[in-house]
Amino acid sequence: MKTCINLGSGNSYRESNTVEKWINIDKNRKCRADYYLDLEKDKIPCKTSTADYILMRHFFEHIRNIDHLMNECWRVLKHGGTLHIISPYWTNQWSVGDPTHVRSVTENTFMFFDKVVMEKCIKEKKVMTVVCPKCDFVQQEVKMHLPSEWLDKHEKNPDEVKFAMKHYLNVVEEIEFYLRARKK
Ligand SMILES: C[S@@+](CC[C@H](N)C(=O)[O-])C[C@H]1O[C@@H](n2cnc3c(N)ncnc32)[C@H](O)[C@@H]1O
Repeated sequence: MKTCINLGSGNSYRESNTVEKWINIDKNRKCRADYYLDLEKDKIPCKTSTADYILMRHFFEHIRNIDHLMNECWRVLKHGGTLHIISPYWTNQWSVGDPTHVRSVTENTFMFFDKVVMEKCIKEKKVMTVVCPKCDFVQQEVKMHLPSEWLDKHEKNPDEVKFAMKHYLNVVEEIEFYLRARKK
């Protein structure tokens, strides 16, 4: 049985089944959850190195104290466990337009949680600040999600869309990351 955790579950409660035991956590008592916790300061109610998978869908951008959150995710995940993050992309108007968002997410955001990458950057004087010195996540995969009109264009002219993704607003809607907890 896999232990899966849904952080900031909101209206997306995940039911357990024969292969996955889901733990849904949110701070808002108006939504259905298994635990009502403030993930900016409370601990995730799991023993160290017991979880296989953590989902943060449209949640990370709501959190100010990311140090505590990322350390807790790392603590409860097994070595090799997955932290799956889906957030609005920084160039989408909802990323900055929603007043409950406290940060933007780009393709660089999670390199700050990879110890190997950070050590290299510090050595090369590319960054000065280590965000979260306890946790260590390897970024395995990053995906960009486009709305249907841009997906159609992509079929016909991928180079044009690649340019637009980099330089125009509201082309990429969401960004998705698969991080792997490194504990050895
Ligand atoms: C935009 S909703 C996303 C809900 C769900 N993950 C989804 O994809 O539909 C963000 C959720 O994060 C919760 N949240 C925000 N800050 C939180 C915190 N500090 N601790 C726990 N939950 C929090 C909110 O209550 C809300 O339900």
